[in-house]
Amino acid sequence: MERPAWAPRNIDISVPSVSRIYDFYLGGSHNFEVDREAARSAMEYIPGLPKIMQANRAFMRRAVRHVMDEGIDQFIDIGSGIPTFGNVHEVAQGIRPGARVLYVDHDPVAVAHSQAVLADNGNAEVVAADLLRPREILSSPEARRLIDLNRPVALLLVAILHFVEDKDDPYAAVARLGHALAPGSMLVLTHASYEGIPLPAERAGGAVDVYRRIRNPLIMRSRAEVARFFEGYDMVEPGLVPMPLWRPETEPDDEDPYAFSGFAGVGRAA
Ligand SMILES: C[S@@+](CC[C@H](N)C(=O)[O-])C[C@H]1O[C@@H](n2cnc3c(N)ncnc32)[C@H](O)[C@@H]1O
Repeated sequence: MERPAWAPRNIDISVPSVSRIYDFYLGGSHNFEVDREAARSAMEYIPGLPKIMQANRAFMRRAVRHVMDEGIDQFIDIGSGIPTFGNVHEVAQGIRPGARVLYVDHDPVAVAHSQAVLADNGNAEVVAADLLRPREILSSPEARRLIDLNRPVALLLVAILHFVEDKDDPYAAVARLGHALAPGSMLVLTHASYEGIPLPAERAGGAVDVYRRIRNPLIMRSRAEVARFFEGYDMVEPGLVPMPLWRPETEPDDEDPYAFSGFAGVGRAA
């Protein structure tokens, strides 16, 4: 297989990656045939996967604008993925050019492409790190340069926690990150769930099996399990809801039924 210039040397391009599959769902060009094959297999079970991803991105942009309205202008976006249309720094810096964004991902293609996109941006950088090792994120030179931990931060965990299995204790990782942030910081997250998918769970489970086969299990959590990530936070209205229902800017009735799969919420640290 030919390796394109944007693909870092150290990656195995015969194994699908979650971030490149996601890039394909969103119509991006940083993916390989193995990624497209996995994406198409998952779509045989949940045909509306691209609609879910678009609703996820739209929620994220609304949440960033809300956070900026609340006076927070520094962001830590973990599991930021391969940059695509309407990234966090574009939304935030479009409102206030000095807004600061630290992107974090463990996928080498996501990191390399982010570096290329951010090369001329003095207020946004990317760190190659794992959500499960918060200290490496917060003590990185990039974090020290960009993020003032004495002031409120928006922590974005958008469409990442459903890739962390219970045995790796995602709740502990989120809590450790939260403890490092100043009072008034905000947590923004989305999470996959069988709740809201307009299909029987057994059918949607076929897509979950595809992710298991590529050794990146997709962990569907119930609303109550997702709500637990917000322990220690006061929920911002309207609480933990299907993505199109979080402070909609257009008529939610016009949304595709698949957009209502899973949950989105924003909380403020007490
Ligand atoms: C579905 S994408 C979401 C991208 C973006 N946050 C969004 O919602 O548009 C999930 C991203 O999380 C990253 N990821 C998964 N587990 C991670 C971990 N433990 N640490 C850091 N990044 C992780 C993947 O590499 C991928 O880029």
